[in-house]
Amino acid sequence: MFAVRFFPLVLGLAACVPGQVPPGAHTGAQTGAQDFMTLCAPCHGTSGKGDGEMAPGLAHPPADLTRISARHGGVFPKAYVMSKIWGYEKGGAPGALMPKFAPLMEGPTVLVDTGDGIQTPTPLRLVEIATYVESIQGK
Ligand code: HEC
Repeated sequence: MFAVRFFPLVLGLAACVPGQVPPGAHTGAQTGAQDFMTLCAPCHGTSGKGDGEMAPGLAHPPADLTRISARHGGVFPKAYVMSKIWGYEKGGAPGALMPKFAPLMEGPTVLVDTGDGIQTPTPLRLVEIATYVESIQGK
């Protein structure tokens, strides 16, 4: 005779969300700081204060990115910063000085609550560069 045994199968599904990476796990080749030095420092300067080497040639001075929180009542407006980098805020209209940064929009996404209580899938490199800009506030 043989016994048929049933083992209850408990699946741990909670940790398994496709296309998502845990916070802090960087899967891209570039960190936020590296992306900043490559993509933003030419205009905003390595310090973020707006003194990059391309700055003198621009019609409008690049913003001092170390004072964004100061200009927004002491609170870092992460969603605004990401939208600014993303470029949709100006929609690429004539006169927009900031280029769009397509490479930052590629690759894995993370869920971010940008202040409206809704977790929105957001490109990891965009989040990381905004986090870097947040880290230089008041510097
Ligand atoms: C070609 C030059 C140039 C590059 C490159 C550039 N910026 Fe800018 N940026 C500007 C200028 C000029 C302004 C101010 C005028 C405007 O808002 O368009 C600005 C404004 C901003 C603002 C708005 C600040 C505020 O308080 O309103 C943010 C945020 C910003 N840049 C972030 C970035 C980041 C992050 C990068 C790199 C991914 C970047 N910029 C690359 C020229 C540039």
